[in-house]
Amino acid sequence: MMQEIETRRSIRKYSYEVMNEEDLQKILEAGRLSPSAKNKQPWEFVVITNQEVKREIAQKLEDKLERENPTSEAILNCSAAIVIFNSLEDDDWNIFSLGICAENMMLEATHLGYGSLCVGLTSLIEEDIKCICNTKHHHLAIICVGKSNEEPEAPSRKELHEFVTYIR
Ligand SMILES: Cc1cc2nc3c(=O)[nH]c(=O)nc-3n(C[C@H](O)[C@H](O)[C@H](O)COP(=O)(O)O)c2cc1C
Repeated sequence: MMQEIETRRSIRKYSYEVMNEEDLQKILEAGRLSPSAKNKQPWEFVVITNQEVKREIAQKLEDKLERENPTSEAILNCSAAIVIFNSLEDDDWNIFSLGICAENMMLEATHLGYGSLCVGLTSLIEEDIKCICNTKHHHLAIICVGKSNEEPEAPSRKELHEFVTYIR
C-alpha cells in the first residue's frame, strides 16, 4: 500500500482512451468500501465518460476562470470523471468521510496503473455541475481517472518533525 501512496501523483495531462469497465468498477468499489462517520456512507457519484458532457464541464470551468487551465484540460482528456456529491447534508463529518472515499478511489486507480486528479475547482461552477448531473446534492469534487501522459515530480511535503509531536 505504501507504494501506491508514494507513487500517486496528481495527473493533469491524459491520453484519452475508453476505460476498461472492470477497472472502473474496481475504483468505484474502493470508494464504496470506505469508512464513514457513523457508517452513513454519504456518497453520490455521477460517473461521466461521455466526451461531450466532459467537454461541457471543462468549457464552463474555463468560462468561469476566463482562461484555459490544467484542471479543465484534465476533465476533458481523462477517461472517467467521477463527480462526487454529499448525499446527506446533515453533518460536517460527511465531508471528512467523502475525502477518505476520494483518496481510496485514487489509490485504487494508482494500483491499477491509472493517473488521477482530485478536482475541487469545480465548486466554482457548482450550479452547472448539479444541473448537468441532475442532482440537488452539494457538489464536492471530481475525481479524474485515465491514462497518464505526464510524469510530474513529487511536490515537496513537510517533514514529520514539523507537524508530529509524541506523547509516550
Ligand atoms: C481537495 C483537493 C482539491 C484539489 N483541487 C484541485 C484542482 O481543482 N485542480 C488541480 O489541478 N489540482 C487540485 N488538487 C490537487 C493538488 O493540487 C495536489 O494534490 C497537490 O498539489 C499535491 O500534489 P500530488 O497530488 O501530486 O501529491 C486538489 C487536491 C485536493 C486534495
